[in-house]
Amino acid sequence: MSQRAEADTVAVDVKDGIAWVKFNRPEKRNCMSPKLNRQMLRVINELEFRDEVGVLVLTGEGAAWSAGMDLKEYFRETEAQGLKGVRHSQREAYAWWERLRWYQKVTIAMVNGWCFGGAYGPLFACDLAFCSEDAQFGLSEINWGILPGGGASKVAVELMPMRKAMYHALLGETLTGKQAEAAGLVNEALPAERLEGRVTEVAQKLLKKNRETLKATKDAVRHVREMTYDNAEDYLIRAQEALNWHDRSDGRHHGMNQFLDDKTYKPGLSEYDKSK
Ligand code: COA
Repeated sequence: MSQRAEADTVAVDVKDGIAWVKFNRPEKRNCMSPKLNRQMLRVINELEFRDEVGVLVLTGEGAAWSAGMDLKEYFRETEAQGLKGVRHSQREAYAWWERLRWYQKVTIAMVNGWCFGGAYGPLFACDLAFCSEDAQFGLSEINWGILPGGGASKVAVELMPMRKAMYHALLGETLTGKQAEAAGLVNEALPAERLEGRVTEVAQKLLKKNRETLKATKDAVRHVREMTYDNAEDYLIRAQEALNWHDRSDGRHHGMNQFLDDKTYKPGLSEYDKSK
């Protein structure tokens, strides 16, 4: 097939509050080229503040989630342009992963197939991750003579215990979906035919919750990991007080009233009703 147009490297479908965003280079196992990286940033920027989008799911067209960076277009061709080309394409890739890490909406990686190397960047950037049992995960960099860069080494140690991360990085073997679940790379591995249903179910649960609170919570979980206990305590007080101001729906008072006065729900068991 002739080269896919930049605009066609990512597919989007917004339905019932969920933005389904797909890596769309199945013929190249959805590896990330500079074109795809630019288009992905455009797409997620455009979706971020749309009211009808409550959750973003990142998945892949065809047999792969993403086979990592495009060895030809991201590495070889940019290296041929010298340092400027290399840095430029790195920035384009890192930019959309960073945007996703701090995205306004909750993000879910739905890993439907191959997930290698550079794909660990967007995998980590997503708040939650679900995969099919037949997906395969690998830090394949060692197999072709580079170290796991683009954040991939960091992702491994963030998500896995040290020994597992080291083995994973040094051996370049693949993990099955179930092994990835056991290692902590994903929340759950499911039979392929149940993957989309489960992700939809989780997204629907999230859609019922207060959006401002979700954003404050996901940011808090990422930020406090790198803080001392005392700094975290202080940050969380300030983040809650900022949320009190940001949340124009005054969610916490509705939450309290519906429990204490109306007795219509129990916070231990479900969320308050946003529609009241
Ligand atoms: N970079 C560039 N091209 C890639 C690619 C990548 N990361 N991953 C796949 N492709 C291309 C192949 O070169 C091939 O192109 P062609 O049809 O023009 O020959 C096409 O995608 C299909 O790949 P193929 O290897 O035939 O598919 P497969 O299903 O047999 O194997 C993989 C799938 C993912 C196991 C294999 O493609 C692979 O090992 N890719 C590299 C993974 C990797 O190391 N990524 C880390 C980069 S940091």
